[in-house]
Amino acid sequence: MSPERSNESREVKAIKVGGIEIDPPIMLAPMASLTTPSMRTVCENMGCPFTFTEMVSVDGLVRRPQKLLKFIVPSFNVARPYGVQLVGRKKEEMAEAAKIAVDAGVSVIDLNMGCPAGKVVSGGNGAALMKNPVVAGHIVEGVVRAVGDRVTVTVKMRIGWDENSLNAPEIAKIAESAGARWITVHGRTRGKFCSGPVNYSEIARVVDAVRIPVLGNGGIVDGESMDRMLDETGCAGVMIAQGALGNPWIFRELRAKLKGEEHTFKVTLNDRRYMMLKHFELYMREGRDVARAVREMRKHLGWYSKGVYGGASFRRKIFRLTDHEDVVHHIEALGAVEKCLSSESVGSRQKAGDQLDRKKVNSTQE
Ligand SMILES: Cc1cc2nc3c(=O)[nH]c(=O)nc-3n(C[C@H](O)[C@H](O)[C@H](O)COP(=O)(O)O)c2cc1C
Repeated sequence: MSPERSNESREVKAIKVGGIEIDPPIMLAPMASLTTPSMRTVCENMGCPFTFTEMVSVDGLVRRPQKLLKFIVPSFNVARPYGVQLVGRKKEEMAEAAKIAVDAGVSVIDLNMGCPAGKVVSGGNGAALMKNPVVAGHIVEGVVRAVGDRVTVTVKMRIGWDENSLNAPEIAKIAESAGARWITVHGRTRGKFCSGPVNYSEIARVVDAVRIPVLGNGGIVDGESMDRMLDETGCAGVMIAQGALGNPWIFRELRAKLKGEEHTFKVTLNDRRYMMLKHFELYMREGRDVARAVREMRKHLGWYSKGVYGGASFRRKIFRLTDHEDVVHHIEALGAVEKCLSSESVGSRQKAGDQLDRKKVNSTQE
């Protein structure tokens, strides 16, 4: 590790570009079908300074702007600046979609060069663009030219397609000279999708290759893992994805850490139930029909209930429910002592010689 990357000399400053200030430089990553307005709102409310929509596929949608606009929506904190992420490979379509997004009021247009999904890369989109630096450069250039300095254009990429083509520094330099204002690097190759170890040294190579801010992404789940990303890569900020699932409080922790404030807050069972109800309420307001909203919200509730006393049985129950009120009822009852003392649970727990641990009931982590 170079001396500049040591913990002592680290200084993480706000990112200020194109009239927005991201302070501290922590963002919620785009996640398909997850970072809808409700998730972005609860993360913002817990201190996340900047969020992205889920990825929007431009393919064929530019001729149907009404459909495109359905995805380009702010969080429920409507005045907050936010970013949209576009995926596509046709320069003209990307530029057209970018203009629609600008008119819809976004502050940042992020270009996806990291999506690993088969149906995306088979069309030459997402992470496949890393194999085609010329096209990647043309897309950034075309979008920057289309939106001028009205908004900030950024790129999110991986460290490479595979271990034999770790070319993120090359793509980052191309993006920088085409006008991108920051680069996010997910420290895994396309082949690794979204799990496994993060390659910090490849992110560091990108930091060294460009003058614009580089955001480190991958494996950040708490203050310690954020410190590791910042220290080992020298990146200017971080982007959080899976670490925020069922845990919007992560932003309060990371924010306090970067601001040098003490962080003693523990997430209680009540906090968790409150957040589930709030997220659910906002999800219902996103405009889907009730049955679909209830079905789609299950995954979030599953993440929120991880590690909670009674969480497994809660998940089994809600995954069968279709009625909104029934789910709300189960959230309100989650982890309640009375529930644990029901004859069924006492019976099975006593059989296992397991005593009810009230401390465990009150804390939410297993
Ligand atoms: C369910 C899911 C959906 C995702 N969707 C997108 C997406 O639409 N656009 C994108 O650039 N990355 C997407 N990603 C990748 C994340 O933004 C992030 O780069 C990756 O998960 C690594 O960060 P993490 O280790 O903090 O999760 C997605 C990841 C997951 C798990």
